Amino acid sequence: MLKATFLGHSCVMATDGKYNIIIDPFLTGNSQATLNADQIKVDYVLVTHGHGDHLGDAVPIAMKNGATIIAPNELGIYVEKQGAKAHKMHIGGAFNFPFGRVKLTIAHHGSAAGDGLIYTGNPCGFLISMGGRVMYHSGDTGLFYDMKLIGDMNKIDLAFLPIGDNFTMGIEDAVKAVEFLHPKTVVPIHYKTWPIIDTEPKEFAARLQGSATKAVILKPGESIEP
Ligand code: NI
Ligand code: MN
Repeated sequence: MLKATFLGHSCVMATDGKYNIIIDPFLTGNSQATLNADQIKVDYVLVTHGHGDHLGDAVPIAMKNGATIIAPNELGIYVEKQGAKAHKMHIGGAFNFPFGRVKLTIAHHGSAAGDGLIYTGNPCGFLISMGGRVMYHSGDTGLFYDMKLIGDMNKIDLAFLPIGDNFTMGIEDAVKAVEFLHPKTVVPIHYKTWPIIDTEPKEFAARLQGSATKAVILKPGESIEP
């Protein structure tokens, strides 16, 4: 079994009943968040890139829980310098963790931390096999044609895709991404956190009506069991 809980913006927590993981834990300063960082109990923290709305509370959550941060190599070095444990990976590589297998996928975006100018390598997405399900979290990215390859090589049960535009795919491109990835279920993320990404998830869902993929709009705090 896999239960994934949306915590607002790009943050997703997932459990297989034994292990708990969190992806892009931006809670402090996230007006959508329904939990604060102190309430998070996890074994692993996955971070797609160094931007504050993704790295977020990763280091304090990891240190408080004795959890390992899974991140692209340079971002892993950055969090180690902050005192956290890291398992460093890179795009195209996969590793079998106790909770399941994680593969890093490409993301067309930037990655920097600190004042926004400390380079933290390439951003990534995560393909996660956990609890008998395959989950894809694209991270922040524009549309890319290799999503077709990701969709053809993997039977994705649940995809989290940004729709907010400006910094990532907007609705039109996210609909195309769904066509390439053909997941069973898609949950839109990375919208409405700020006025500049004020797109409408209902419009995204409406455009997918009649397709083989079910769009599910989760409010922060809501869960799905794909
Ligand atoms: Ni970003
Ligand atoms: Mn972002």
